[in-house]
Amino acid sequence: MQTSNALDPQSPLARAIYDLGIVSGVVFALIFVIVTGAITFSIFRFRTRAGEPDPRQILGNRKVEIAWTIIPFLIVIFLFVITLSAMNRADPPPAPSPDLVITGHQFWWQVDYPGSGVISANEIHIPAGKPLSVRLESKDVLHEFWVPELTRKMSNVPGQPNHIWLQADKPGTYIGQCSEFCGTQHAWMRILVVADEPARFEEWQRAQLQPAQTPVNDAAAKGLAIFQTSTCINCHAIRGVAGADLRVAPDLTHVGSRKQLASGMIENTPANMRLWLKSPQHIKPGALMPDFNFTDEQLDQLATYLSTLQ
Ligand code: CUA
Repeated sequence: MQTSNALDPQSPLARAIYDLGIVSGVVFALIFVIVTGAITFSIFRFRTRAGEPDPRQILGNRKVEIAWTIIPFLIVIFLFVITLSAMNRADPPPAPSPDLVITGHQFWWQVDYPGSGVISANEIHIPAGKPLSVRLESKDVLHEFWVPELTRKMSNVPGQPNHIWLQADKPGTYIGQCSEFCGTQHAWMRILVVADEPARFEEWQRAQLQPAQTPVNDAAAKGLAIFQTSTCINCHAIRGVAGADLRVAPDLTHVGSRKQLASGMIENTPANMRLWLKSPQHIKPGALMPDFNFTDEQLDQLATYLSTLQ
């Protein structure tokens, strides 16, 4: 399973934070070495030996006191300036309108592209090299969006949108996770960022804007009928399917095109789709999707239908 690595920045935003960490770390290490070195040296060099007279008694030393006031002051000023500069680079002011709106839900991420109207879940496609202005929201409790290789972390607060920028230097996939405890499945609110070549991203966006694939065979048609007549339709939207326009749960219009299910818990294969539909509470206890006790035949049909929604 791919993991994230905060020490491997892949965007100017993440690099600003990484560089600040390294420079500050070097300064702290130098101070540590100098102070502990001076103490260790003094312990051995100036310890009392038997028969020695008392050392000369000193009261104050103006030069030393000025030096150890000015040097730390300059170090603090230096850290202050590089921190401000890193904050400016890692967290510029938001664009007038966001390129992306990412909403935390228990326990998944909704991803809206207000410019184009694309709606996805858990899998965030972005064009490589382009900084995107992101608005962070929450539908229920506090969540926190964090993709360490690409940008800073930031809380998703209900009723109080926050802002970050998101960027990837080059095409690739990057892993993030919710980093604020939000309930039983907090650990399974994974984020998959897919950075594509800009042309490939445009292609993805065009495909996502298409209405859902109509059923390709009899089993898929029966699967669609089950979706419409069960309670699935009370939470999940599928664009192009009558009545399926509620987005309490992930939009399923192109669910078959996503790489993972259940916010990154399992790979998106037809077999796993069937497993998920069979008992979501077994795979992800506490998720808001209940077990429906579908028959084996219904599971086959529903899984067939959803897997064809490419
Ligand atoms: Cu959402 Cu932790």
